[in-house]
Amino acid sequence: MNVFDSIAQVQEQTTKWVREGKTIGFVPTMGYLHEGHERLMEEARKENDKVILSIFVNPLQFGENEDLDQYPRDHDHDVSVAEKYGVDLVFLPTEDTMYPAPLTLNISVVRRADVLCGRSRPGHFEGVVTVLTKLFNICQPTRAYFGMKDAQQVAVVDGLIQDFNFPVQLVRVPTVREADGLAKSSRNVNLSHSEREEAPSIQAALSHATDLVRKGERNPEEIIQSVREFLDSRTRGKIDYIELLSYPELEPVHSIDQTVILAVAVYYEKARLIDNVVMGKDGVSELR
Ligand code: PAJ
Repeated sequence: MNVFDSIAQVQEQTTKWVREGKTIGFVPTMGYLHEGHERLMEEARKENDKVILSIFVNPLQFGENEDLDQYPRDHDHDVSVAEKYGVDLVFLPTEDTMYPAPLTLNISVVRRADVLCGRSRPGHFEGVVTVLTKLFNICQPTRAYFGMKDAQQVAVVDGLIQDFNFPVQLVRVPTVREADGLAKSSRNVNLSHSEREEAPSIQAALSHATDLVRKGERNPEEIIQSVREFLDSRTRGKIDYIELLSYPELEPVHSIDQTVILAVAVYYEKARLIDNVVMGKDGVSELR
């Protein structure tokens, strides 16, 4: 396994692989790898001749008051995990390598970004699509792997690939969960004991919603209200949002007659947790 920090080294390798007709699976991350990231690497390993993992905490996607400096890092651990999952190349650039000079261009995300988490994180998805544009050009992937834990990110990346015709296939990977249903996240360690006990109610609330749809409920307002009551009675976490939108367009819907996402964000004392379910109009969740 190679660990490269220069763009030229990676491009030289990927150009060679492309010329040889090899398929390249790409897993972009910000490091501090956990089982969620590992699932992406597993999927990439199964489906491609070569696998690239990138580890880069992208400053462009962090807001003024966000925790860029506190973002956890452990490169030694990450490189050994990559080795274990059979990754061929780890790209571990510095900030200066990725952004040697102020950018000349700005990509603005004009749809799919002003709802859910994007509403409270102006500029976040611009930062994500900018770094991914660079990483796609550097890594030249056949397929790129993203977790549905961040379903809005998947929807925005889908827009990036479609709009700019990147020759990359987007692969959505289902959310990896703890045994009790809580979505795996590096933020879970910030939950107190009692918060950790209550947090699986977030996923239970999503299942409650799919049950309602399966039983014929079509009204988004009714579903949102029922999910709110469900959560209020099971956790003291403060609900940030419960939204039901079309997927992947992320537009408001008046009735559930297409694929939709129900997404929830809950504040605990030291962590804000997100989770979602994407379901068809029959209430059957897609990509579990
Ligand atoms: P990061 O937060 O490190 O996440 C990297 C990938 O892991 C994302 O596609 C994310 O959805 C996925 N992931 C995280 N938790 C998961 C879980 N429990 N189950 C399945 N997948 C999970 O997302 C980013 O980095 C950045 O925005 C990035 C795309 C790298 C651009 O900087």
